[in-house]
Amino acid sequence: MRSYIVAALVALATARSSDEHPGHRLYESKNATHPGNATCISDTDASLIATSFGLTISNYTEALAVQLFTTNFTDQSDSVNTLIHEPGLQPQDLGPLTFTSKADFLAGQGAQPPVPFEILDLWHTCDTVILRWLSAQTPYSVQGISIASVVHAVEGQGGGFGVGTQKWQISRIVAEFNSGAWLGNIGYPECAVVANATR
Ligand SMILES: *[C@@H]1O[C@H](CO)[C@@H](O)[C@H](O)[C@H]1NC(C)=O
Ligand SMILES: *[C@@H]1O[C@H](CO)[C@@H](O)[C@H](O)[C@H]1NC(C)=O
Ligand SMILES: *[C@@H]1O[C@H](CO)[C@@H](O)[C@H](O)[C@H]1NC(C)=O
Ligand SMILES: *[C@@H]1O[C@H](CO)[C@@H](O)[C@H](O)[C@H]1NC(C)=O
Repeated sequence: MRSYIVAALVALATARSSDEHPGHRLYESKNATHPGNATCISDTDASLIATSFGLTISNYTEALAVQLFTTNFTDQSDSVNTLIHEPGLQPQDLGPLTFTSKADFLAGQGAQPPVPFEILDLWHTCDTVILRWLSAQTPYSVQGISIASVVHAVEGQGGGFGVGTQKWQISRIVAEFNSGAWLGNIGYPECAVVANATR
């Protein structure tokens, strides 16, 4: 099952990198001397990480998420915090981590229905993969930006992804998107009357 996922991801990542704009390559990361120990993530592995992340939104499986994220993974998004807490969003709901660990993400994301997720743009530095994405929901399409910090896969934490011997995992995500449009798609729960909410 896992090797099937990896094969599918490599196919997707390869398809993707062929239509990337040259300007998206922020960092030349080839390491001819030590190909197995790249200090910087390669273009192909950045695509693989981005595609894998997208699949945790559109085609979630626990096996995929376990492989992709480090145990100390954190995710901060006030857009997601808003979706989670509406109706009745309180000031203190904005700012804190959305997911405080991989286990927290597995419990939270694993319970969500799949949503469409398409990568519009992809950039990377040595240790950061930046995606601009579209979730083609109806009636309102939702655009967002997710920034993933990547580290060399940590022994015993799921395996990571990479076409070479150096595997990579995501240790941190910060992301924001059009939560107003998303709330519209799920029926404007923010408009419901909530005891205690300050409007
Ligand atoms: C390559 O990375 C592994 C794991 O991080 C490390 O154990 C090994 O010493 C590194 N090899 C070289 C040549 O840097
Ligand atoms: C190539 O790999 C070696 C050994 O891991 C490392 O010291 C060096 O900084 C790397 N160079 C680049 C450009 O990533
Ligand atoms: C993801 O799910 C969609 C919708 O169910 C499906 O069409 C697509 O083939 C899946 N992609 C992968 C890589 O499994
Ligand atoms: C999480 O673990 C990775 C790999 O060990 C490490 O590089 C990173 O700094 C850690 N992040 C935090 C917030 O502790």
